[in-house]
Amino acid sequence: MTTTKIRQMKQSGEKIAMLTSYDYTLARLVDEAGVDILLVGDSASNIVCGNQYTLPITLDEMIFLTRGVVRAAQHSLVVADMPFGSYQVNEDEAVRNAIRMVKESGADAVKLEGGREIVGAIRRMVQAGVPVCGHLGLTPQSVNQFGGYGLRAKEEAEAQKLVADAKLLDEAGCFCIVLEKIPAALAKRVTEQVSCPTIGIGAGNGTDGQVLVLHDMLGLNQGFKPKFLRQFAHLAGDIHSAVADYVASVKDTSFPSAEESY
Ligand code: KIV
Repeated sequence: MTTTKIRQMKQSGEKIAMLTSYDYTLARLVDEAGVDILLVGDSASNIVCGNQYTLPITLDEMIFLTRGVVRAAQHSLVVADMPFGSYQVNEDEAVRNAIRMVKESGADAVKLEGGREIVGAIRRMVQAGVPVCGHLGLTPQSVNQFGGYGLRAKEEAEAQKLVADAKLLDEAGCFCIVLEKIPAALAKRVTEQVSCPTIGIGAGNGTDGQVLVLHDMLGLNQGFKPKFLRQFAHLAGDIHSAVADYVASVKDTSFPSAEESY
């Protein structure tokens, strides 16, 4: 998969399927199952590290996780999130860190949250040969600014700003834009007004593709069930019963059996 093919999918009308991945073993399964883009999201801060927010994860930690996903990817494009603090200080530092991510992890592209305030950095990254995925709407790295994870751009003024930001990201050379938790009608409006594909999460069915957090859609994250999330499996229950079965089998000495011994 290449960023050029992702762009072509918008023209041909084929929907883009993106899922997060944070490790080699699960990324292999996700890649084999035919996902177009593996996103090493900074949601790793929550999912892998157990933090409340995405803010604490570092560039070194994101590079470490991305390497495993890159080794697993035979077919999918690997996009790595640039973590909070790695691209906001100034354009030089942003480009240096994006190049570091690509060089040290092997990611095909990076993702950054934000609009007009980071468009200069995005332009410089694209010029340097680093493909960039934008991210607008609910941007979890700005949680302290917004004070929560509610629906974004409900009012027309914010919607207009979001459309303008999407156009700027498109012009700056983003090969796709993630739209998170915004009204479906607005996501469709953005999708019609930009040349690059849009990939929605909690943004309805009018985008060029969809993304979900892998652990959420597999039903591993039991406490988290927002309206937009469909659980395609309920693996938490399977894991609980497998582990309980293992513990019971160890305790009652039925594991290992003679056949399982050398
Ligand atoms: O970090 C992440 O998992 C993301 C997706 C929710 C799009 O940015």
